[in-house]
Amino acid sequence: MIILNSFSNLLVYVIIRKAKASDKKMVLEFCKTTFSWGDYIVEVWDYWIREGNLLVLIENNNPVAICHSSFFDKQVWIEGIRVNENFRKKGFAKRLVLKSESIAKNKNCVISKMLIETNNKKSLNLADYLNYKKEETWNFYSLIPKKSYKKPKVIVAINNNKIINFLLLNSTYYVKSWRWILLAKTNIDSLINEQRILYTIHDDKINALVIFTESEYFEKTLMLTLISDSVNGSNEIITYFQNYAIDKNIKRIQILTKIKTLPKIENLDKKFSFYLMKKEI
Ligand SMILES: CC(C)(COP(=O)(O)OP(=O)(O)OC[C@H]1O[C@@H](n2cnc3c(N)ncnc32)[C@H](O)[C@@H]1OP(=O)(O)O)[C@@H](O)C(=O)NCCC(=O)NCCS
Repeated sequence: MIILNSFSNLLVYVIIRKAKASDKKMVLEFCKTTFSWGDYIVEVWDYWIREGNLLVLIENNNPVAICHSSFFDKQVWIEGIRVNENFRKKGFAKRLVLKSESIAKNKNCVISKMLIETNNKKSLNLADYLNYKKEETWNFYSLIPKKSYKKPKVIVAINNNKIINFLLLNSTYYVKSWRWILLAKTNIDSLINEQRILYTIHDDKINALVIFTESEYFEKTLMLTLISDSVNGSNEIITYFQNYAIDKNIKRIQILTKIKTLPKIENLDKKFSFYLMKKEI
């Protein structure tokens, strides 16, 4: 597609295609300093190329923007939208998202979702322009493993209605590799069978529950979806996983939760808050 560059009045040649391994160097170069802390694209590039749903926008033969999608349960999850700083405000991010939505529609998806940091105004503008709505707010905490001699009283969930109902009542999603997956009886059953759900009780009632998975992208990283209305319950679960991680040689723990403030625990840091954005496509 040929478009007119509004700044220079020159015609430029723009296409969107699947990313190739040979795009890596140029893309990673402009993704080095995306955020104040850097960027994670370097860690997921090979994985996304293998998955095959990584789009790249080429301007005059050079990759200048990317966007990755994955498809499950008639939904598309859009992530990793990056535009080279020198090529912003030309509508490239919009084109990539619209293209991803159109691919998703061809795969019978009806919902598109993405996650945006609550302070990322540019991205929120983009999402607003594209008619995405804020669905939920989530908080991200990082936790460094640490041996403790406390013995937290956490219980491995078994397949019973009490646990399934608690989960369905208190959370719509759990987080797997930074994707928000809808909770339904079928995947709760699988998570229970894989012993990925733990909980704590107080006065015979569940007061905190966690779903834990290992990240597919990031090495030795554990992801916890924490649901809790009790400081003690959260404390027990966090302490349990600090120990668990040491035993299993896990290097970092990422906690995703709707809880705004977690108890003060050494090596537990609140990092960011995110909006889960949703659009019917
Ligand atoms: C957020 C980000 C992806 C937006 O990319 P972009 O290509 O600049 O976005 P677009 O050009 O599609 O739209 C951005 C703006 O450009 C304007 N614009 C679009 N086409 C234009 C054109 N031809 N001429 C001038 N302005 C234009 C739009 O109106 C929009 O303005 P707004 O922000 O006031 O609404 C980019 O800033 C980026 O890579 N940021 C860092 C990474 C990041 O935050 N990623 C998202 C994580 S969820």
